[in-house]
Amino acid sequence: MSSQDRIQQRRRYLMCRPDHFTVSYEINPWMHRAHPTDTSRAVRQWQALHDTYVGLGHQVELIDPIPGLHDMVYTANSGLVIDGVALGSRFSVSQRRGEERPFREWFAAHGLDVVEPVATQEGEGDLMLVGETILAGYGFRSQLNSHAEVARVFGLEVVSLRLVDPVYYHLDTALCVLDPVQGPGGVERANIAYLPSAFDERGRADLVERFPDAIRVPASVPATLEMNAISDGRNVVLSPHPNSFVAQLRERGYHPVPVDVSELHLGGGGVKCCTLELRGARP
Ligand code: ARG
Repeated sequence: MSSQDRIQQRRRYLMCRPDHFTVSYEINPWMHRAHPTDTSRAVRQWQALHDTYVGLGHQVELIDPIPGLHDMVYTANSGLVIDGVALGSRFSVSQRRGEERPFREWFAAHGLDVVEPVATQEGEGDLMLVGETILAGYGFRSQLNSHAEVARVFGLEVVSLRLVDPVYYHLDTALCVLDPVQGPGGVERANIAYLPSAFDERGRADLVERFPDAIRVPASVPATLEMNAISDGRNVVLSPHPNSFVAQLRERGYHPVPVDVSELHLGGGGVKCCTLELRGARP
């Protein structure tokens, strides 16, 4: 299938400028307080990501960064938004709980119906919509008992996937939704790419059964956050890496768009982590 055949969907994203980005605590294996960070470099890279989305025709909304909330740039963790309903997140880590309220206030101020969560889950970091199904990660940050709440709030099937490698501590570090909808002419199912080694045996079996055409990528050494990518159905925005899966993307007719966000990798997040999709929200 050539990239002409892939259908781009226009998206609306929420981002947060990393004006206060630094690594002042360690809550995932990527973060090292001893490793210096360069905030202005993070802002420049983030700006390039922002401008890439706009250049591709997507609408980007911004939330004001708040001093002291160093991880606020990773907006994917702020909730899950489908059909104008925003389920807020409830962080497992105390360092990020201060983000919960400002994000929910932003959702409410922008016409979304906000649902306050009861169980612990970290938004799109662990909850990914594919077609009419939500793939839901647990094991490190989000808790398994949040999945029933997610299913109830959205009225959608939730497939629980246990993450087993601490390096891939959020589902979106190990799995990328390439196309949430049916392919042209209905010939192909919604598709994903993922790192099988990040899942337990049952999760791997579930993914093979549901997505027989998925791109399965061996985890590279050293680990990368390349899988933490954003696809609009045609363009796949991702951090460039030498042992990349871009060749497999091209073979399937996707158009890889490299954007270097290496400074933001120091906090344990990549392209996808910096991007929350606002689905069906009123503009
Ligand atoms: N430092 C952040 C944390 O550990 C990184 C979050 C990355 N976000 C994501 N969607 N995976 O919470």
